[in-house]
Amino acid sequence: MAFRKITPQDISQFSNMLGDRYVLTDAEQLERCSHDETEDLRHMPEVVLQPGTVEEVSAVMRYCNDRLIPVTPRGAGTGLSGGALPVLGGVVLDMKRFKKILKVDKENFQVTTEPGVITQELQEVLKSQGLFYPPDPASKGSCFIGGNVSENSGGPRAVKYGVVKDYVLNIEMVLPNGDVIWTGANVLKNATGYNLTQLVVGSEGTLGVITKIVLRLIPAVTHDLLMLVPFYSATDACKAVNDIFLAGYTPSALEFMERDALEWSMRYIQSAGIDLPPEIQAHLLIEVDGNRLEQLFEDMEAISAIMQRYKTGEILFADSHEQKQMLWALRRKVGEAVKSNSVYKEEDTVVPRALLPRLLETVKRVGQEYGFHSVCYGHAGDGNLHVNIIKANMSDEDWQNKLPQAIRVLFREVVAMGGTLSGEHGIGFVQKSYMDIAFNDIQLGIMKKIKDVFDPKGILNPAKIFVN
Ligand code: LAC
Ligand code: ZN
Repeated sequence: MAFRKITPQDISQFSNMLGDRYVLTDAEQLERCSHDETEDLRHMPEVVLQPGTVEEVSAVMRYCNDRLIPVTPRGAGTGLSGGALPVLGGVVLDMKRFKKILKVDKENFQVTTEPGVITQELQEVLKSQGLFYPPDPASKGSCFIGGNVSENSGGPRAVKYGVVKDYVLNIEMVLPNGDVIWTGANVLKNATGYNLTQLVVGSEGTLGVITKIVLRLIPAVTHDLLMLVPFYSATDACKAVNDIFLAGYTPSALEFMERDALEWSMRYIQSAGIDLPPEIQAHLLIEVDGNRLEQLFEDMEAISAIMQRYKTGEILFADSHEQKQMLWALRRKVGEAVKSNSVYKEEDTVVPRALLPRLLETVKRVGQEYGFHSVCYGHAGDGNLHVNIIKANMSDEDWQNKLPQAIRVLFREVVAMGGTLSGEHGIGFVQKSYMDIAFNDIQLGIMKKIKDVFDPKGILNPAKIFVN
């Protein structure tokens, strides 16, 4: 499809629709919207539009659809697969003005929110009313709930509470032609027609622009306990993960960090952090939560006894709110720490949980074969390992040409294990060339036809998910 460049006439039409101050063409705003948190990628939009109402979104979409102008929706720009990058130029639709929590329905344990609300702020408002929305991506202090829905984000609590998809009941969205629809109903059970809601969750802004979200909530939980378990062997740490579940426990978080991950994070946030003896190769960060503290102490004791089956260092039990915060900060900042340390590439591999030790070994073996160093960490309890491939001494030539081959080999092995390419970061722009490993032509054909139904002209978030 030949997309059209934006003209001065378009800019004045956008100004008529939104008001001058929400039509941004200055270098600073274009630069801000040229990147998200994905590696060091930059793609300039031609204009940034900041609509404030669903009617305005609809007017912009209809206008751009009629004129073949590409539109890329944007949340807070914390994505890790390049989903918000305007890779073909055109409009960035910046949703930051959609920042109202519209209705907390305490009786029904539901909230209706606009997409531009920061996830943690939403969680805090709900918590003050005794309500709990669990999904907690590492970026929860800055990401938008709309981006979380678009990417079907996860986070540490997913192991016990599920990911974003498990909480979305209904979505209001603007289709590329400007039509506005709701995808479902605000009910806990729904066997009525195709499940459009779940189709839109995780569709990475390629099917429509989300303007309202209805989430299911659960009662707030009152207590949690946290411990950090050091292991002499990273593979042992991965093996210990499944033992916990086999013994009948479901922690509210079960995170894995290789030594480098924790070390780099401590340096990055300049935290004295924790003692890290040289023989320690990896850690598990394990949290349990619930309403009865005695029960949680018992669970922690039982889980730490399971850990003793392996060669571990001294377990650190967080004994204050501050220490918990410190340990979580160390974990949440790993991604940023890696980013600040080196040119890198991140993969978001996921396998059936019991195969986690094999996944880690595979990553290291492929790394040895192709000469890359990796720093691995992530949501061990979900079998979801973030693999950060570090450029370090790799030549530019190898980085450009050999590394993609290595990643293909890795993904093939992941898929052969019954796993897949991304657990929670999405395919977006950076992983699309590997989709043929996860899906055959029939499967990809169905997905592309779905895209065509929603967006026949292909103007919405083009060049994402599929190679063509
Ligand atoms: C994390 C992000 C990168 O788990 O998903 O830290
Ligand atoms: Zn993660």
